[in-house]
Amino acid sequence: MLHLRSHAELKSWRESLSPAVCLGLVPTMGALHGGHASLLEQAVSDNDIALASVFVNPLQFNEGADFKRYPRTLDEDCALLESYGMDAVYLPDREDMYPDGYETRVRPGPGGELFEGDQRPGHFEGMLTVVLKLFLRIAPDRAYFGEKDAQQLWLVRRMAADLDLPMEVVGCRTVREINGLAMSSRNAFLSPEQRDDAAAIHRAMLATREVFRAGEREIARLERILVEGIHEAQSLHVEYAQVVDDRTFRPADPADQGSWRVVVAARMEQTRLIDNLRLGRA
Ligand code: PAF
Repeated sequence: MLHLRSHAELKSWRESLSPAVCLGLVPTMGALHGGHASLLEQAVSDNDIALASVFVNPLQFNEGADFKRYPRTLDEDCALLESYGMDAVYLPDREDMYPDGYETRVRPGPGGELFEGDQRPGHFEGMLTVVLKLFLRIAPDRAYFGEKDAQQLWLVRRMAADLDLPMEVVGCRTVREINGLAMSSRNAFLSPEQRDDAAAIHRAMLATREVFRAGEREIARLERILVEGIHEAQSLHVEYAQVVDDRTFRPADPADQGSWRVVVAARMEQTRLIDNLRLGRA
């Protein structure tokens, strides 16, 4: 696997590829885990060449402490990427991505205002900025994002459509631990007991979906079931637990025949966990 350590190295590698080659990109912040498996596998199987990027993007951390604390496991990450058959990895540093004097940001529209956008001011602006820079530098035919970060995936799709980016944004299924907890780099901060408690999020989402499938369309009741289910684990503190319209990433409207999804963010001590599950058509 090729290690591309700067924009210049990336550029000359990209220019060496035939225009006929189909290139897949998996953007990551490293600390790779089983949850990245679905992205890597799909990128390798869909494309002639698969490239990952590893960059802990300072712009998308609204708390400096969170940026410092973010796990960094570069050697293990590169070994894992190679084992999945990735052809190359782009490893920019801060100066390479944001040279002296850098100040431009990509601002999301209203679909980025609520939920994660509300809880983490500036997060989506920083995320879209780095993703657009990666897209422009790499010019992938496809880019892969996890459905676990549903609002992020929605915003990246929106940006690609709004800015006419000539590429496909592919959503990949959420990978879960046996107990249902969505795999995430932040799970590394949880003890085995906390991981068991955190599985209450998935159970609560499944219980809500069951009630939805039985015909319940009253949003307040669905959200009550969701919150009560999460609170079965006393160590979980809900930041939001809501039913959203998948098409707009705004709160679901009972008068509209949208496609509904539950989205959850909860804190367990210092660790923030997010998850979501599609309910289906309302
Ligand atoms: O999901 C992530 O790991 C990050 O938000 C991303 C897409 C790599 C941008 O930094």
